[in-house]
Amino acid sequence: MEYIENTGFEMRGWRETSLIYSSALKEIGTKLEILNDEFQHVHMYNPIEHIKSRIKTAESITKKLKKYGYEPTIENIIKYVNDIAGIRVICSFTTDIYRIARMLERQSDIHVISVKDYIKNPKPNGYKSYHMLVSIPIFLSERRVDTKVEIQIRTVAMDFWASLEHKINYKFETNVPSRIKEELYECARMVSELDAKMLSLNEEVHSLSQEPY
Ligand code: GTP
Ligand code: MG
Repeated sequence: MEYIENTGFEMRGWRETSLIYSSALKEIGTKLEILNDEFQHVHMYNPIEHIKSRIKTAESITKKLKKYGYEPTIENIIKYVNDIAGIRVICSFTTDIYRIARMLERQSDIHVISVKDYIKNPKPNGYKSYHMLVSIPIFLSERRVDTKVEIQIRTVAMDFWASLEHKINYKFETNVPSRIKEELYECARMVSELDAKMLSLNEEVHSLSQEPY
């Protein structure tokens, strides 16, 4: 049998698995685009700034399974790795985040497995985002496969913070100097303040433009 380099995955099995997960990303991506288009049509504005999606590489899935103490098999991937298919939705305002989340939850083919609201409860380092783990049915020629997708919804400012923090962690291999950690935490506080100010400014502008003259 043929195996993927640096992993325990057999080629055919991995190809089928990644096909299913990339189909799940397409399904969720399309749902988000439809919601955004409808919003544009009804309210004349876009809650979504942009969308990024990715499939975790076989190598990085293998690492994760090892870390959890599982054998690198396709069965274990499906069972234990929740973020093989990941989609990140970047919104302008925090209110848009919850709006998008509620709209997805209500769709009858989406099953919400779990939610982590790091906006209401930020991580100790200051990380903020709204995470949903959902499953969506993928219809293949012979069978239906319910497939997990990790959805991260955040504002532009939260995304800016998270990508810098990720880069810093990568550079220092998690031994980040405490001064830099403190600065990052301070930046996270500024992100929250900025998001709150931008939201109230937007609401003010909106209410003014709706006032009768
Ligand atoms: P993993 O972290 O993926 O093992 O799963 P988990 O069960 O801890 O899930 P969680 O929802 O906490 O995190 C999932 C994903 O969110 C991560 O893979 C990152 O993409 C992102 N994330 C979580 N915490 C942080 C953080 O502190 N900083 C940054 N930059 N990203 C984070
Ligand atoms: Mg984590």
